[in-house]
Amino acid sequence: MFLAEIRLDVAPDEGHPFDLPVVRALRDGRGLRFRTPVTLLAGDNGSGKSTLIEAIAVAAGFNPEGGTTAFRFATRATESSLGEHLTLSRVAGRKPRTGFFLRAESFYNVATEIEQLGVVGSYGGVSPHERSHGESFLDLAVHRFGPGGLYLLDEPEAALSVNGCLALLVRIAELVAQGSQFVIATHSPVLLACPEATILEIGGDGRIGEVDYDRAEAVALTRTFLADPQRMLRRLLQDDR
Ligand SMILES: Nc1ncnc2c1ncn2[C@@H]1O[C@H](COP(=O)(O)OP(=O)(O)OP(=O)(O)O)[C@@H](O)[C@H]1O
Ligand SMILES: [Mg+2]
Repeated sequence: MFLAEIRLDVAPDEGHPFDLPVVRALRDGRGLRFRTPVTLLAGDNGSGKSTLIEAIAVAAGFNPEGGTTAFRFATRATESSLGEHLTLSRVAGRKPRTGFFLRAESFYNVATEIEQLGVVGSYGGVSPHERSHGESFLDLAVHRFGPGGLYLLDEPEAALSVNGCLALLVRIAELVAQGSQFVIATHSPVLLACPEATILEIGGDGRIGEVDYDRAEAVALTRTFLADPQRMLRRLLQDDR
């Protein structure tokens, strides 16, 4: 473990992202503790997961547009200034040997940077531009992620099939056994099952609470849906009329 906690002690009251419920809750609460090598950040669309992950990445020294700490490309500055206000507590005496910040939206730009830096060899030998979205992401996790790393991933499932998610789970477990730490924003009931993980769910009021796997909304709702898809569809479509 490298990151122990984030806190937001002093922050403006207004303007994006400081007026988001989750940011207010973070400022008014006691911060977020990373208790386990894998922290999964869950919550509905728009609850603020990407905003938080990106701010943690900026505070930890990653390029806000994604990649390793060595990546410095910038196509369009869209990151918020939350990262500059976060206080990040590191575990004493522990420094990651490597790391990666995967943004949900910008893997394409990261792929271009990998080509331009001439480091395709560290990513499985084939340019990510010549692989499918999921293939290039799994190349990244298998070839570029390594022991003792800090990995911040925003919705890695966006690229992956269910099989791909299962392969990622196995890779995460391997890297955790080798001293890595992950913070992952996800909607995937498969990734939420990650062993040795803490699930932090952002509620409607912005408060972030720890939940068990079975109580995580993405898991409970998917389970209800899969138990009887037609029943849920009928109910939803009726509600629509
Ligand atoms: N530049 C911006 N200016 C104003 N509001 C913004 C800006 N960027 C994002 N937001 C708002 O901030 C909120 C949190 O967005 P964020 O992307 O962090 O959500 P999320 O939890 O990652 O959602 P999703 O699950 O859809 O990825 C959203 O309501 C979004 O509309
Ligand atoms: Mg997001």
